Amino acid sequence: MENINNDLELMQTIFKPNRALSKQSRIKNICEYEDLCLDAEEDYEAYWGNLAREKISWIEPFKQVLDESKAPFYQWFVGGKLNVCYQCVDRHIQKRKNKVAIIFEGEMGDYKVYTYRRLYREVNQTANLLKNRFGIKKGDRVIIYMPMIPESAIMMLACARIGAIHSVVFGGFSPEALRDRINDTQAKLVITADGAFRRGRPYMLKPAVDKALEDNQCPSVEKVLIVIRNNEPIEYIRGRDYVYNEIVTLESSQCEPEPMDAEDPLFLLYTSGSTGKPKGVQHSSAGYILWAQMTMEWVFDVKESDNYWCTADIGWITGHTYIVYGPLAIGATTIMYEGTPTYPNHSRWWEMIEEYRVNQFYTSPTAIRMLHADAPDEPDNYDLSSLRILGTVGEPIDPSAWKWFYEKIGRGKCSVVDTWWQTETGGHMISPLPGATPMKPGCATLPLPGIQAEILDEEGNKKDVGEPGLLCITKPWPSMIRGVWGNPQRYAEGYFSQVKSKDGKPIYFSGDAAFYDERGYITIIGRTDDVINVSGHRIGTAEVESAIAKHKDIAESAIVSTLDPITGESLFAFVVTTPNTSCDLKQHMSLLPELNALIREEIGPIAKINNILYVPGLPKTRSGKIMRRLLRNIARGEPIKQDTSTLENPNIVKEIIAIAQGKNA
Ligand code: PRX
Repeated sequence: MENINNDLELMQTIFKPNRALSKQSRIKNICEYEDLCLDAEEDYEAYWGNLAREKISWIEPFKQVLDESKAPFYQWFVGGKLNVCYQCVDRHIQKRKNKVAIIFEGEMGDYKVYTYRRLYREVNQTANLLKNRFGIKKGDRVIIYMPMIPESAIMMLACARIGAIHSVVFGGFSPEALRDRINDTQAKLVITADGAFRRGRPYMLKPAVDKALEDNQCPSVEKVLIVIRNNEPIEYIRGRDYVYNEIVTLESSQCEPEPMDAEDPLFLLYTSGSTGKPKGVQHSSAGYILWAQMTMEWVFDVKESDNYWCTADIGWITGHTYIVYGPLAIGATTIMYEGTPTYPNHSRWWEMIEEYRVNQFYTSPTAIRMLHADAPDEPDNYDLSSLRILGTVGEPIDPSAWKWFYEKIGRGKCSVVDTWWQTETGGHMISPLPGATPMKPGCATLPLPGIQAEILDEEGNKKDVGEPGLLCITKPWPSMIRGVWGNPQRYAEGYFSQVKSKDGKPIYFSGDAAFYDERGYITIIGRTDDVINVSGHRIGTAEVESAIAKHKDIAESAIVSTLDPITGESLFAFVVTTPNTSCDLKQHMSLLPELNALIREEIGPIAKINNILYVPGLPKTRSGKIMRRLLRNIARGEPIKQDTSTLENPNIVKEIIAIAQGKNA
């Protein structure tokens, strides 16, 4: 393998799973994988029904596996009752009460260990607190705006225990973004922390909650519960704010889990779409937890004595499924880390893998690219021999980063699982299986057993090898999105209207483009819609455009993506200024700091423009739609192959190209 130094060559190379690893894996070879796929194909309902009966501790058994009568509003495991918190905590108490459930390491080096028994106690006390002190009932919404500390997981589980629907908001979102989510969910309670630690310094969350709620802008919120983490001074509002650490211990550690319907919502998680404000993706209880468990077993092949680590933030779907619900549902030990991979230096993660003898390590391509670029040989100084499975998620991984991950971190012995999935899918959809699937750098490979992923054109025809097409899921699956909170039309039209079906059954379109290779492997190309993937974070162009529209000098703008060696994509703004602007139109970046400040205020620091071009107008169709694809070609310096003659203003394209070339000259 030494001679391979070119991405194209690497993309053609197949890496076989390590034989020793295959022998001990749950799915040992590709025939076993194919058998499972055939089981699902032969009798779809029996396949899922058997898994659900085997893996879930039902309070009441379900009567029907799948109800498609109101498609695309599907119902799974109809009539079944369960409690997801019971599934993740209580049922392990007999067999694993002294087993470590959560290992937490703070950025400053502090750490905390929760056994399943301790987790049980604290989750029960917290559930009682939510119920008794704050009057939270089944179906109420609770916002969790928290850092990466174990109390965040405890809050999620406590909500699940009493049947409240949580909506975790990533701690990096601004007060405005938090307010939108609170108001959309009509939450009664906001749970937060004073703050936490990042890059060696305390940062604050509670002031953002105060700002979101000020002037009664979130009338549904009755109380705020605060976990003390960094002990920085904060302001309290009497009668509204309560300190968790002071009152939780007063509660009893016995709280009956609420029997929940299989289809009752477990949580809402907001994510960006092509248009409008972020949408509240609604997940179910039974279907979601079933697939979280199955993928933990099949894709991460977690064994009883393993230490499993996912570096995501709890504010994203990866944190929900693969830090909290998936690992705990199978009784695993899950590691949570508070801070950044580069504090106090670039070996922090490698040190933690050595310290905790981590067996599965799941992270993002952006982090891999950054650590590869900044400190490529640092991993050599650590004992990483405990690792068996390495995972990536959230964005395409380029073959050279894959190779570094495979060789430097995995020492050429681990399987790398490039997992493709989305907030909407609840869990992994396309991924190699560690003991079974020959790996191909930069390729997510094959759909998991039971997942009907296909690459189609808009008419529903399957694409040939090498042809880019729309990545679709043609059959419903248990952990799929159940709706967009408060907006059934956005759900039905946003996901099921783009691709025609041959048999009348709705087809889910993911928003991604992909292609097949000769083996039938699926390679993800990226989003086809107006969503940009920066460091694995979904950013809606519409949200950024509406944030910068607040600037007095901006008449109109279009945000597109360019490529970035570390973050994958980055934001490029084409900006039309107002006629009376005082901007020097030759100094294209002059508004950058002010526009980024506006974006920070509206969305948060995760979104930021890297490049601006002032242009006299934007290319539009006759119906007024901005042709972002053309602008993306210009931003990336690519040739324009599209016919531009049908545009409302065909000359604008030449003008913009001339301005772009002038800027770069
Ligand atoms: O474009 C795909 C990309 O991330 C999108 C989903 O983003 P989100 O809902 O935030 O969930 C991220 C974590 C699951 C997808 O539509 N994506 C996700 N995984 C991959 C990927 N792109 C390429 N390869 C992947 N493995």
